[in-house]
Amino acid sequence: MVLLNSSFRYVCHLFLTGSQPSGELTEDSTMWRSLSKYVCVFFLLALSGLFFLINNINVLEQNLNCQTVSTLYQLQSSIHTAFFSEAHFPLDRNHSYCGLLGQEPSPEEALEERYLLESIAWPEPMHHSESVSLDHTSDPAHSFFVILPARGRSEWYVGDQLEAFVQMYDFQGHPKSHGGDFLLARLHSSELEAGVAGQVLDHRNGTYSAIFPLLWQGSAQVEMTLVHPSEAVHVLRRLREERPDRVFFKSLFRSGKLSQTTVCNLCLPTSQKPLCNYTDAHTEEPWYCYKPKLLSCDTRINHAKGGYVKGLLTNKEALLFQGGVNIKVHIHPSGSDSVTVLPEKKDKADERSSMKMEPTRITPSGYYFQGSWRALTGGVIRQFNDSSAITQCLKGKVVYMYGDSTARQWFEYLNDLLPELKQFNLHSPKNVGPNMAVDSTHNILLRYRCHGPPIRFTNVIASEMRYVANELDGLTGGSNTVVFISIWSHFSTFPVQVYIRRLRHIRRAMVRLLDRAPGTMVVLRSANLQALDPEVSLYNSDWYSLQLDWVLRAMFRGLDILLIDAWEMTLGHHLPHALHPPPIIIKNMIDIILSRICP
Ligand SMILES: *[C@@H]1O[C@H](CO)[C@@H](O)[C@H](O)[C@H]1NC(C)=O
Ligand SMILES: *[C@@H]1O[C@H](CO)[C@@H](O)[C@H](O)[C@H]1NC(C)=O
Ligand SMILES: *[C@@H]1O[C@H](CO)[C@@H](O)[C@H](O)[C@H]1NC(C)=O
Ligand SMILES: *[C@@H]1O[C@H](CO)[C@@H](O)[C@H](O)[C@H]1NC(C)=O
Repeated sequence: MVLLNSSFRYVCHLFLTGSQPSGELTEDSTMWRSLSKYVCVFFLLALSGLFFLINNINVLEQNLNCQTVSTLYQLQSSIHTAFFSEAHFPLDRNHSYCGLLGQEPSPEEALEERYLLESIAWPEPMHHSESVSLDHTSDPAHSFFVILPARGRSEWYVGDQLEAFVQMYDFQGHPKSHGGDFLLARLHSSELEAGVAGQVLDHRNGTYSAIFPLLWQGSAQVEMTLVHPSEAVHVLRRLREERPDRVFFKSLFRSGKLSQTTVCNLCLPTSQKPLCNYTDAHTEEPWYCYKPKLLSCDTRINHAKGGYVKGLLTNKEALLFQGGVNIKVHIHPSGSDSVTVLPEKKDKADERSSMKMEPTRITPSGYYFQGSWRALTGGVIRQFNDSSAITQCLKGKVVYMYGDSTARQWFEYLNDLLPELKQFNLHSPKNVGPNMAVDSTHNILLRYRCHGPPIRFTNVIASEMRYVANELDGLTGGSNTVVFISIWSHFSTFPVQVYIRRLRHIRRAMVRLLDRAPGTMVVLRSANLQALDPEVSLYNSDWYSLQLDWVLRAMFRGLDILLIDAWEMTLGHHLPHALHPPPIIIKNMIDIILSRICP
């Protein structure tokens, strides 16, 4: 063992630095050359020993210097992941695999779940994607949209609606005859810095309507985007149900000299190996890790994203996810894509108020005009351009922010902007948190904490893994308390039931909080659009986010909270979609929140 150890240290140095280790050997190059062949022998010896040890225990930690420990962990976890992901997961084709782990829903919960799942049902394709060739799938380049005349005339007035009709074609130029394509519609004007989300209606026969409210006078241009063809959505849906393991997690366990890293997830096959059950005592949210061989389950040190399972698609399926071909590609207009919107017609007021009754009349939550977000419900939005106005508004407040990195963006925005707000060093990694910032002059406290598993951050200390619902239960609340929540992105790889269950727990805790401390202000942020490429699509597609977003809106409807419509705020804006929306969009969100706190 001593021999193995010292030879390992030597080889390790060689491989890491590409030079000889300092010390006795550097002085004599002849000696170095003669030693090098022994080194190779030692190395092979060490390597075989290493492989033997990996599958057993790693007591080596204390003995090995020179960074072998981390190499060992990486090697071990990649072996684990290769092993688990290839060999174990795909066996279970049960479509409610994840949803069933954890507590059984009560009859009311099951009813709500069924209603929610029905409300987000997406049209099934005609053929299964395994059998369909690219030729017969939706092709944005062959498809077109046309702006329909308003009531037979090509005149549009503020307060009217504009409708665009979309006909989808396949790569051979044949019209599509079934629905299910994921389209985004936006009406905008670059010179007015205006933009609004359109609503897309799927006629289920290869045609779609996009409907936009006309909210500003002047030019308005329609932009239609195919995010994914229906055939790709079908693949995404299959992955969501069958491969909830395609993002996996790991935890380090350690006690004394023993340590091991194992794979963790919301659902692990129970039949294969002993599990550690980290089901939360309060919420009963499930979480599992494989039990380390020689360590107990209470020696868990941290939680981290393990990685992404690759090779999820067949060659044929991969053709459905091509950048520039069928992921987020614009559909061109037939005729003009723009209209000129005339001032509101006063004498038409009656006609329009009757039109408001139409079932297809849509009300977005707001729109951009001159670069600023204007809300259509919930009051006027003030511009908080300078830090002193924000400080005055937040004076005396404690702001708790919970969720993923899109919640952290709010923390960072305020922390960067307010000079008197000082980030308190909690010795936690900046991007993981928990984070805290204090302005003691104005009695402002800002806190950020990430949501519980399946958070995809790296190295969250196990003791800092908290569920948002439990954190809310720990708050006193009151008129000095503001709570921001943004939780969506890390749920996209799981069946929707997992998200429904998480939101149900958060909603219950939120209702309890608002009950005991009615003055508490609660802000909930929806999902947003993001940049998609062939790879990102399989884990984080906007289609997954859209489905989660519909669920979130339905579940929190009617509660006395403020919903920040990040979906429409990123769809309406001219800047490219990004998982972390650019600062100007964050500013607009913060303006909405501050306008509610300080009307
Ligand atoms: C999935 O598994 C559950 C319990 O193991 C079972 O009740 C259910 O019928 C299964 N569903 C399918 C679609 O096989
Ligand atoms: C598809 O449905 C829409 C709405 O019902 C209709 O206007 C259109 O004519 C239909 N197109 C075809 C090709 O059937
Ligand atoms: C994990 O623990 C929870 C609560 O203690 C329990 O309901 C669940 O059945 C356990 N899971 C497994 C796989 O044993
Ligand atoms: C805030 O800034 C925006 C954009 O720079 C500007 O349009 C707006 O008038 C400003 N508002 C106030 C109240 O200063």
